[in-house]
Amino acid sequence: MLTNKLNTFRRYCAQASNPFYATTPIFYVNAAPHIGHLYSAVITDAICRYQRLRQPEQSLHLCTGTDEHGTKIQQAASAQAVPVAQYCDDISARYREVFAEAGIANTDFIRTTEGRHKQAVAQFWRTLNAREHIYSAAYSGWYCVSDETFLTDSQLRLDTASNTRFSLESGHPVEWTEETNYMFRLSNLQDDVLHWVKQGGRIRPGKFEKILLDMLSEPLPDVSVSRPTNRVHWAIPVPDDDSQTVYVWLDALINYLTSVGYPDEKFRSYWPPNVQVIGKDILKFHGIYWPAFLIAAGLEPPQQLFVHSHWTVDGQKMSKSKQNVVDPVVAAKTYTMEGLRYFLLREGVAHSDGSKYTQVTD
Ligand code: ME8
Ligand code: MG
Repeated sequence: MLTNKLNTFRRYCAQASNPFYATTPIFYVNAAPHIGHLYSAVITDAICRYQRLRQPEQSLHLCTGTDEHGTKIQQAASAQAVPVAQYCDDISARYREVFAEAGIANTDFIRTTEGRHKQAVAQFWRTLNAREHIYSAAYSGWYCVSDETFLTDSQLRLDTASNTRFSLESGHPVEWTEETNYMFRLSNLQDDVLHWVKQGGRIRPGKFEKILLDMLSEPLPDVSVSRPTNRVHWAIPVPDDDSQTVYVWLDALINYLTSVGYPDEKFRSYWPPNVQVIGKDILKFHGIYWPAFLIAAGLEPPQQLFVHSHWTVDGQKMSKSKQNVVDPVVAAKTYTMEGLRYFLLREGVAHSDGSKYTQVTD
């Protein structure tokens, strides 16, 4: 088992170019971090530490941070009756502190509310627009605030007793939404995304490549990339149109560019990332939307996505919104932070969920 893991690490470290760029997801500030978030950070940190051993002279960038816009955050702040900016400051600081305490050697901690990121998003939007990948349309569909995405009928479960629909992915309810949005021509890029996925070894472990290929076997609908400002005001404005704000997932993905200096040309020396570590819950966004956005903007998609499974409690994904979490700071009091890091890396298996008590395979 350990040998397998080492071999996996060796395989993608071997593909490293100069400099080395690795990322974790940026985490929503809707609640404090749990061991799932730390797990992504520890895996990315281990990859970078191994790379540093192999090539001590190579410059290395490890970016992590927090995702702070959108309805989910607006709602979390108002539930706590705290001004949203202050709420973001507080929770973002918790992530920063936990990662520091756990010895994560990140070289950047990005927040999507920073000025450098707002500039990057505006520039990226203008590029997509200039290249004619964006159009305006009336749009309607089921929106899941917890997942921050529109979902199709096949991604929903109808509870007939309450006549309520729920996201199959997260179990959270959806609401019917009709509005004018800017749309991104994802449908035009299906073949390009498929080509990228099929280049072999892009998506690790291979199980997630198969899941992605399944998703890509159906025609991809265009994706809504803005929301009306009067509905979602805690967001980055669409350039030259105050009535719309940028969809939180487009905003969030661009963080990986912001962190290496985009739109300043210096970002190119880091681009594309060598490895982007994500949980399987956000595979669609990183395995379909992200390469499509990049290709549309004339940029290269990442060399590799490393996808890990979930820590679960009683068979359910550990999650901030379900409040069934293990707090890393509390766990470290018993096991030490070193001990917790060791546990996560030693007992976690990327391709299968890990239960709080026993290891299970799916
Ligand atoms: O999705 N087990 O943020 P998020 C293992 N902001 N890893 C877990 C986990 C669990 N039970 N729960 C969370 C978002 N994670 C977006 C991402 S990226 C441009 C934007 C980890 O706060 C895992 O990496 O919901 C998962 O993908 C991520 O946290 C989701 O964190
Ligand atoms: Mg989540």
